[in-house]
Amino acid sequence: MSAVKSIVLALTAAAGATASSGSNAHARSDVLTVGVLGDYGWTGWEPASLNFCNNVMPRLIANGITIPRELQNDCDAGDRGNIANATAEQTTTASYIGKVCTMKNCSAIISVGDNFYSSAIDFTTEGVSRFEQAWSKMYDGGIFNNTRWYQTLGNHDIVKGQAGVDFQTKIAPLYDDRWYFGTEGLPYYTYDLTGKDWKATFAVVDSDCFINAYQKNTSVYQNDYTLSCHKDKQVQVDFVEQAFAKSDAQWKFLQIHHGYVSSSTNFTELAPFVEIVEKYNGIVVNGHDHCLAHYYSNNTNFILTGGSGYAEPGDCNNGVALGPFAKFLGANSQGAGNGFVTMDISKKSVNVEYYARDMSYEGGDLYPVKNQMKPIYSFVVATKN
Ligand SMILES: *[C@@H]1O[C@H](CO)[C@@H](O)[C@H](O)[C@H]1NC(C)=O
Ligand SMILES: *[C@@H]1O[C@H](CO)[C@@H](O)[C@H](O)[C@H]1NC(C)=O
Ligand SMILES: *[C@@H]1O[C@H](CO)[C@@H](O)[C@H](O)[C@H]1NC(C)=O
Ligand SMILES: *[C@@H]1O[C@H](CO)[C@@H](O)[C@H](O)[C@H]1NC(C)=O
Ligand SMILES: *[C@@H]1O[C@H](CO)[C@@H](O)[C@H](O)[C@H]1NC(C)=O
Ligand SMILES: *[C@@H]1O[C@H](CO)[C@@H](O)[C@H](O)[C@H]1NC(C)=O
Repeated sequence: MSAVKSIVLALTAAAGATASSGSNAHARSDVLTVGVLGDYGWTGWEPASLNFCNNVMPRLIANGITIPRELQNDCDAGDRGNIANATAEQTTTASYIGKVCTMKNCSAIISVGDNFYSSAIDFTTEGVSRFEQAWSKMYDGGIFNNTRWYQTLGNHDIVKGQAGVDFQTKIAPLYDDRWYFGTEGLPYYTYDLTGKDWKATFAVVDSDCFINAYQKNTSVYQNDYTLSCHKDKQVQVDFVEQAFAKSDAQWKFLQIHHGYVSSSTNFTELAPFVEIVEKYNGIVVNGHDHCLAHYYSNNTNFILTGGSGYAEPGDCNNGVALGPFAKFLGANSQGAGNGFVTMDISKKSVNVEYYARDMSYEGGDLYPVKNQMKPIYSFVVATKN
């Protein structure tokens, strides 16, 4: 286990932070632990048949018929091939997260998106059934019953366009009150977590609106929603700037799906957010790549926590660092670890711990962990005062 210590300048460390609306239920402790996870919701996905994908869809296209994005995405051979293992991995990892969070007394879960593979959910019979299978009944009982989930949208969540976004931002919070998406029903929002003498401000955005490739008419992610929110990108950038500028919290986090720095794809379109995070000495939590990693770039810690569903070693370059920015990669030449991250937030520090499940028993997907109840990697961000 290695440890990296980074210094974050405290802006104002207001003693005895006062309560604010939207703060968590368990306020007033010295240390508050949150679980951070992403890229998890596979269970119950039943894509269109191979007959449709291989025989019918080409005929329809030849006849000039537009294929809905959801059906196009259903025919993605890679995702289809992963369903069985991915569903098993989500289920086993859910119970693993429950165990670690019980041990660590997690007060909340912070999700970095890709809540429903592969073609999203909307307000239909299939959508509500999958909401229950892949989320509300998957993360149920024990510690999960008392943890609010601060949600984020990922690219798989927006395949159905505005209808899919509306389900997650407006319907889901009423469906199960642990599912939180701010108070305005928008895909971006801010919230505070508070302790006895500290405060943390989180700004949540939808990075799907920023990815240039999703604007192409050949992308399964191009739809009414992404076309529209791409035009309004500045609204989200201004929102984060204002949320951080107004906040007197000593900790500021950007919660976002895609990674600005990565071992597989750097989404450089997210630079406007990173400039703001850097200005306010913030920390980034993101997903998209299906593995656990710690990157340090642009004076900023990037916590990658995309290993809660189907872990993919290639996303972490099979454990080979592409440069000194890669401080930790939860993968090796044979596999990547399923797991998540915990953050113990206090006035003086944020202690970030990476937990990976022992996967030495899973045939072709090896990632042995000696003691899965101990972090495989950790680092501390400390205030400078
Ligand atoms: C768990 O954390 C909460 C703060 O979220 C705190 O109030 C409570 O005392 C903690 N419980 C234990 C057993 O540490
Ligand atoms: C958790 O909540 C569900 C309802 O959402 C309930 O059925 C279940 O009994 C609860 N479990 C525990 C351990 O409290
Ligand atoms: C996609 O856009 C290109 C131009 O960028 C155009 O030539 C093509 O007809 C469009 N295809 C569809 C299906 O709209
Ligand atoms: C991402 O950016 C870093 C530099 O910030 C670079 O070293 C790395 O190679 C890039 N990753 C990829 C996959 O290109
Ligand atoms: C991050 O650092 C890289 C390398 O120094 C630089 O090219 C890039 O512009 C920086 N990004 C931001 C958002 O400042
Ligand atoms: C699925 O998991 C099994 C072991 O449970 C493994 O043998 C197989 O290679 C895996 N398949 C894929 C596509 O990863």
